[in-house]
Amino acid sequence: MSLLEVRDLSVSFGARQVVDNVSFSLDAGEKLALVGESASGKTVTALSTLRLIENAHLTGEILFNGKQVLKMPPEELRELRGRDIAVIFQEPMTALNPIYAVGDQIVESIELHTKLRGAQAWGEAKAIQLMEWNNQPPKMFVRVNTLKTDPASLLARWRQEGVDYDFVRHDWIDENLVFLLKSSPPLARLESFCRGDFYVQDPSTLLSVRELKPQPGEAILDLCAAPGGKLTYIAQLLKNEGRVVAHDIAPDRIALINENCARLGVTCVRPVLSADFSAEQTGPFDRILLDAPCSNTGVMRRRLDLRWRITPEEIARLSRVQLDLMKRAALLLKPGGQVVYSTCSLEPEENEQVIENFLKEQPGFFLVTQRQLLPWVEGVDGAFVALLSRS
Ligand SMILES: C[S@@+](CC[C@H](N)C(=O)[O-])C[C@H]1O[C@@H](n2cnc3c(N)ncnc32)[C@H](O)[C@@H]1O
Repeated sequence: MSLLEVRDLSVSFGARQVVDNVSFSLDAGEKLALVGESASGKTVTALSTLRLIENAHLTGEILFNGKQVLKMPPEELRELRGRDIAVIFQEPMTALNPIYAVGDQIVESIELHTKLRGAQAWGEAKAIQLMEWNNQPPKMFVRVNTLKTDPASLLARWRQEGVDYDFVRHDWIDENLVFLLKSSPPLARLESFCRGDFYVQDPSTLLSVRELKPQPGEAILDLCAAPGGKLTYIAQLLKNEGRVVAHDIAPDRIALINENCARLGVTCVRPVLSADFSAEQTGPFDRILLDAPCSNTGVMRRRLDLRWRITPEEIARLSRVQLDLMKRAALLLKPGGQVVYSTCSLEPEENEQVIENFLKEQPGFFLVTQRQLLPWVEGVDGAFVALLSRS
């Protein structure tokens, strides 16, 4: 299974239940950064702990080497990013303002965001709306895998399996393609999951594939493909008829592509590791999807430690990687072909600016459409999608 899923997690503090029904998912291999024990003796995991802090349902102490993390100056806080720390809660609990009462960390991340995006782009009020969104527990959405089933059969099965769902509508997704899972037994125990009737992914992730418009019989490259959420949707739209090369740099993540394709019944995909990739053998392509490695700032509520790790330097580094990958895609595209660039970042440096810089250097390409999904506007994860054509 590609995802470690934790659902319906409850955390108690003393006699009182402070968090109920939290659900989140981690990519395989990602580690929980914090593990602690609440005063009531219950072990709480990193993410639930972070969630508690972010939502500020209690006042507490976070100790690292005996020092209170929330009271540390920003320089010391920065050094803690990505390290394991212990968490100790103390009474009393209070319901505090979710944004401002949580100490230097949240204030710092708001500042970082406002600075990165530029107050002139969205302004402080929008930055705060975004932080409020980022502090909400993420919802779980799934795409129906029409290579294996159809919506009506899946819903009938879910009713037998005790899955509670809701319908999801957005202008870029077909009716009954994506559902919200309101509650369910652990996915690994569902027959519908094990036999590949659906794939867990946010509705925002489908926009790039819709823009790509893959056609049966075409040669398609997914340049950064793992773990395969968009890739397997491409295969679904192709009805497995076509030639899709799934390229990625990370061997362990290529394994996730294989796993997901096997579970979902995808047969038109050939996974290729960067080290083994030869353009002569695989290209050129009719369409290329470049779902670039990015800062993930559009999915912060799913990647809870991100706000402590992300730096302006990292964003600058990523934007250089993204431009290099776009240039690589350009070399592999047929004349008249189309490339879709996407990220789950909200930073202009990783989105519009990458496209602008690319177009300056590549006169043979032109921008067809560009769209950003903003969490507080669309109610989905943040995403950026640009469709470019080669003359
Ligand atoms: C945003 S994720 C892709 C998610 C995927 N498209 C999906 O929908 O499931 C970015 C991927 O890019 C890969 N990657 C990073 N640098 C790369 C490079 N230089 N060439 C190819 N893949 C790269 C990472 O290993 C990671 O799997």
